[in-house]
Amino acid sequence: MCGIVGYVGDEYAVPIVLEGVEKQEYRGYDSWGIGANTEGGIIIVKHKKPDDQEFDWFVERVMRVDFCSSRNAIGHNRWATNGEPSDINAHPQTDCTRKIALVHNGTIENYRELKDFLLARGHIIKSETDSELIAHLIEDMQKQNGGNIRSAIIKAVNQLQGAFSLLIMHADHPTLQVAVKKGSPLVYAEVKPSCFMVASSPLPIIKYARNGKDIEDGQIVFIENGKAEELSFADEKIKINPIIFEGTEEELKHEGFPHFMLKEIYEQPCKLGETIAGRVFTHEPFIRLGGVEPVLPQLLACDQFFFIGSGTSYRAAMLGAWMFKNYLNVRAQAVQASEVGSHNILAGCQPDKTVAFVISQSGETRDLQLAIEEIQAKGVMCLGIVNVVGSKIARMTKAGTYLRVGPEIGVASTKAFTAMVLSEAMLTLLLGRHKNMTRDECITFANQILAVPGCLELIFQQADEIQTLAKSMVDQSALMLLGRGYHYATILEGALKMTEVAYIAAVPELAGEMKHGPIALIKPKFPVIVVAAKDGLRGAVIQNIMEIQARGAFVIGICTNGDEEMQKLVDKSIIIPDLPSHLATIPAAVVFQLLAYYLGVERGYNVDKPRNLAKAVTVG
Ligand code: M6R
Repeated sequence: MCGIVGYVGDEYAVPIVLEGVEKQEYRGYDSWGIGANTEGGIIIVKHKKPDDQEFDWFVERVMRVDFCSSRNAIGHNRWATNGEPSDINAHPQTDCTRKIALVHNGTIENYRELKDFLLARGHIIKSETDSELIAHLIEDMQKQNGGNIRSAIIKAVNQLQGAFSLLIMHADHPTLQVAVKKGSPLVYAEVKPSCFMVASSPLPIIKYARNGKDIEDGQIVFIENGKAEELSFADEKIKINPIIFEGTEEELKHEGFPHFMLKEIYEQPCKLGETIAGRVFTHEPFIRLGGVEPVLPQLLACDQFFFIGSGTSYRAAMLGAWMFKNYLNVRAQAVQASEVGSHNILAGCQPDKTVAFVISQSGETRDLQLAIEEIQAKGVMCLGIVNVVGSKIARMTKAGTYLRVGPEIGVASTKAFTAMVLSEAMLTLLLGRHKNMTRDECITFANQILAVPGCLELIFQQADEIQTLAKSMVDQSALMLLGRGYHYATILEGALKMTEVAYIAAVPELAGEMKHGPIALIKPKFPVIVVAAKDGLRGAVIQNIMEIQARGAFVIGICTNGDEEMQKLVDKSIIIPDLPSHLATIPAAVVFQLLAYYLGVERGYNVDKPRNLAKAVTVG
């Protein structure tokens, strides 16, 4: 995904937009760009991020340029899709005359046809991006209709297929900014009378305004001469829905912590407290999930459940499906969003007795959007477990529950994962209370959920030890993670964290499967991290530990508090609180988060912006 941001009003626009670009760095950080409309034309500064430089380097490049006090600027964060990261592929992109400049988030699917059309009409295309074609297309439409920029833009956007949000400016219209939305998120606000900001997310805007508007697919906002006109792609006047932007400036900083990832790991006790606040009780009704209750009768009639997500959210989906099977005794299955189209997952399902929980931190993941479309087309209800309020996926679903963990800026998902697991536990309690759980079982289940936020402190007390462990493993290029039962999902999540922030090939394996092949990796001192919790699978895990110790492995055990026998068996232990296994996944995941964080830092990487990644993956 990419980030776009713009300001037009009576203030100097470039510093405001530059700050917005920095705030949206989580959306993409392989290139940055700024374009400002000035009396002398549009001035553009855009660069690929050098490997050894951060945002300050770009700020310094921008500061070298005289933008002639421009009051109208647009900015961009790029995560490359069409064309490698390079200065020329960075945005803003321009037309042949350099009068039209635009920034784009999304992908244009009819890119090839458009390129052939534009080349045949003599346009000179400089970059490899699909975005540049849009600028040329507007130029072409403008020539065809006597220079009217407004109808040129409307004609051009109607020819685009795919997902896109755009912010367009024109050198001959010093106060013009045009925001266009289809598929990729876009909000705008009048930040003070006659001054406007547009952005991919509210984050650049909340410093200036709380009341904004959430531009929907097929909507355009023409801002000129201090007025905003809201139109449809059919050039009809419309009214765009107002929204209140949530979040605080504080949430956008990592003060007191060297990285967002560490801040977000440490926020978990507090944020998970918010996830369950006012929702879980140790007395009747035990659980109240306002976002799900309107569909509760439908939900209770279902006997088949899917949990769908990507990456970390898929790992959470696995846990949701297992909780439903184990506690509700229903058919439940986790599916990766990108695989929904590959298999006939709904084969044999009765649509009115089936529900799909769709899980996403960002609410933007394209694979999940496509999965939802496919599932809904078959008449199956989708319910969201989403963090970003009002996001595309939240709006595509009929109902659902929000994670309430605030903005997650670090690319590696941490607090969102643990909140997803806790939300799934709440959904289990909600259905269990109505289906099969006794009053005493509900009380126990609720008490266990309520205990989770507070008990994470035990992990943070061991942070120094985890850091020391990371230091001792800093030169490892590979390691193995073992777990059974629920903890298979925990080690998949742990391995993903280590891969994405520390670039270590972490091999996650079901402990019981290890002897069928992966054991070949074991040699003296080879590090193996085993989730060795005190649960029904403990005996089998002990057996697996002995098998690898017999071959010289260095075993790091994630062991339950009080399980001294296990702590003695392993070569090094990290202690997690004594919780039932479905919830013990949460503190065990936090151990992996800290270990991956320290490994990444010790290996000298920027853990908040891992190589080749972006916070939300908006390409399918
Ligand atoms: O925003 P989503 O939860 O839909 O994102 C899904 C994955 O892209 C995401 O979890 C990704 O795997 C994270 N970078 C993992 O830390």
